[in-house]
Amino acid sequence: MEVYLLTEIYPVVYNKVIKSCIASLISNSVQTLQMANKQKLEQKLGEVLGLEMAAQKAVEELSAKGLLDEAGVKTQVEGMKQEANNHQKRIDELVELLSKSEGLDSQSVQESTKETQQKASQMMHIYLGEDPDSSEALDFRGLAEGGEVIHYEALNEMTKGIKNAQATDTVQSILEEEKKHLMNCIQLVRKNAASSS
Ligand SMILES: [Fe+2]
Repeated sequence: MEVYLLTEIYPVVYNKVIKSCIASLISNSVQTLQMANKQKLEQKLGEVLGLEMAAQKAVEELSAKGLLDEAGVKTQVEGMKQEANNHQKRIDELVELLSKSEGLDSQSVQESTKETQQKASQMMHIYLGEDPDSSEALDFRGLAEGGEVIHYEALNEMTKGIKNAQATDTVQSILEEEKKHLMNCIQLVRKNAASSS
């Protein structure tokens, strides 16, 4: 009895089956990749939202303790707080937009926001301890602003893959403002250190 390979009997069918399997494998891996990218984007959007919310709460707490009362400090930090509120609103709008256009899960963004806000608040309390002074409060603002810049840098790279000019413009412009926040903090820390030396 002669044995025929499937390829010899049905070459056309065989080719179609193999091609279809390969196409299906590629499609599945692309979908998995897209899903993974989407989850990373949801997480990062939640992180920047959580940091912006924690920043506003931190300024309120530090102000209430009189740790930002020095001349020039309060005005600048209050300005950064206002901008943090503006960033929060713009990212909220971006999440809404991307939920519609890219199918982002806003619930997943909210979970990441809540987790990040809690972590940032815990970090501040651990860093400042029981009896912080104003220079420690300024140092912490610098750390927090540095964290914001890093997260927006990552988000900026992630949104480059989205064909939506509004998304890339929003993240890019917030990133530029966050860099200015960090520079402001560096200048305040320098001024504070120079006056106490
Ligand atoms: Fe900021």
